[in-house]
Amino acid sequence: MISAIFSCGALLLSLLFAQSTEVQRPYAKRAVVSVSRPATEVGIRILREGGNAVDAAIATAFALAVTHPQAGNIAGGGFMVVAPHGSQGNFADAKVVDFRETAPAKATASMFQPGDSVRTTKAVGVPGSVAGMEMAHKKWGKLPWAQLVEPAVNLARSGFPVEKSLAAALNKVLPETAKSHPEFHRVFSKPAGGVWKTNDELKIPELATTLEAIRDKGAAGFYTGPVADRMVDEMKGSGGLISHSDLAGYKAELRDPIRVKFRGYEILAAPPPSSGGVCLALILGMLETRQAKQGDRMGVDNLHFLAESMKRAYRERARWLGDPAFAPLPPELLSPDFAARLASTIRMDRATPSASLAGDIPLAPEGDSTTHLSVLDGDGWAVSMTTTLEETWGSRIVVAGGGFILNNEMGDFNWVPGRTDKLGRIGTAANQIAPGKRMLSSQCPVVVVREGKVRAVTGSPGGRTIPNTVAQVLWNLLEWDMPARLAVETPRIHNQWFPDQIRMEGATSPARIELTKALLKRGHKVVSSPQGDAHTIWVDAKGQIWAAPDRRIEGAAAGE
Ligand code: DON
Repeated sequence: MISAIFSCGALLLSLLFAQSTEVQRPYAKRAVVSVSRPATEVGIRILREGGNAVDAAIATAFALAVTHPQAGNIAGGGFMVVAPHGSQGNFADAKVVDFRETAPAKATASMFQPGDSVRTTKAVGVPGSVAGMEMAHKKWGKLPWAQLVEPAVNLARSGFPVEKSLAAALNKVLPETAKSHPEFHRVFSKPAGGVWKTNDELKIPELATTLEAIRDKGAAGFYTGPVADRMVDEMKGSGGLISHSDLAGYKAELRDPIRVKFRGYEILAAPPPSSGGVCLALILGMLETRQAKQGDRMGVDNLHFLAESMKRAYRERARWLGDPAFAPLPPELLSPDFAARLASTIRMDRATPSASLAGDIPLAPEGDSTTHLSVLDGDGWAVSMTTTLEETWGSRIVVAGGGFILNNEMGDFNWVPGRTDKLGRIGTAANQIAPGKRMLSSQCPVVVVREGKVRAVTGSPGGRTIPNTVAQVLWNLLEWDMPARLAVETPRIHNQWFPDQIRMEGATSPARIELTKALLKRGHKVVSSPQGDAHTIWVDAKGQIWAAPDRRIEGAAAGE
């Protein structure tokens, strides 16, 4: 059976399969890539003003909270991989800032029923973004903090041109929120009424005031004082659990990256509580058991093997992964032997049914948005950051008077303890809700290094599809030697163990239909679906910097 998930598929496919005629030129020194042109421009300006990659990433992230508010945020969370160019050129100092949200102190494992809405205050995790940016700045920043927040204040206060993807997202969400989320509707509606068009001006003055508090007082301006009061007030009478002590007690964590070796490169990736690095280690580990560049990259054998690798990796994700303070990562999961053992169970002639991989995970009887930015500075430092509100527009709750949207990240916990089913709900213990616990993420920002130099910076939105998107961009770049633009544009597939199916971009298009039929013949179910938005930087062997914004949503590069 072939089905299409999104009705906008036809438009997307025409974009995907049209051969890009735009002439690309490499940069020599530095580059910033993000989903939004004004935010990318803030990043490159900070580099020109003498900031390093960390400064530029922080400023770009604050700007995204204004110009791409459907995912950019101050009340969400994420992961930032920082690769400072160590004195030995070995990136031994690389770290990951984990600014993932946490469950409030009053949260319990059984606080949600399967049908509960994720657009309520109860679904909001204690936000991590502002604490994460402050931690990164204290450790590595060169420019003053206020200089990094100021551009976002100006964008929110003076207004900015609405980009195409934002206009479309606003026009879709506003009618849905008129009754359910009136503050959202008030803040984001066009002052003169009517639909948003590209280049209309949007001002968010209350967000500017909140950003001023962050600019002047740092994270304390968000987690304490009037902004914190507003967030706690928002919880009242609506079942929300976040208290003043949850906010004041939030801490970002500094973690060691997971280091994945693949075809002579080293990939620095986010560790738990993100599943990104572990999934990458497993998928790329399985791919590496095969001869390099075997067959046709988009041929049925390669896609079958890739999908079977993904399925096995996501089974391990469900079994083991969660906040490492509650569910420690078994170290053997990262060994090449473990990946090789999983790879040895793949049959080339036939898909393995997902249910048969469940093992000791009991199965119940049958019954967008995030954003990524990449920065490379003139000193060879790289920052790869993914940040999210969970769903597109998060909980849709705009804090009254604060002008910012609350995340709905509690939805990333395993909601119903014990219930793992074939629809893709996971109920394993590792990621059940507990007070103060970080919910499991799929965010997968990475920096790739080789012989003391940064070679790639990438990551993507897309929920559980993220590690698979990143694995394919890396596979394209590191094994198939594709130019950056092609590595990003090549159609992607996704398998997440359950549902037991492959999602493939353009599965029903004339260009892919024979491939889809061949996968069906091997026993896969195939659905058509767009996937990810991987804003990528690639540095070739000559040191030329290729910035490849992903055009699936929107994207803008700047450099020199
Ligand atoms: O952290 C995670 O894995 C999810 N909250 C990410 C959600 C996401 O990417 C949705 N956007 N497209």
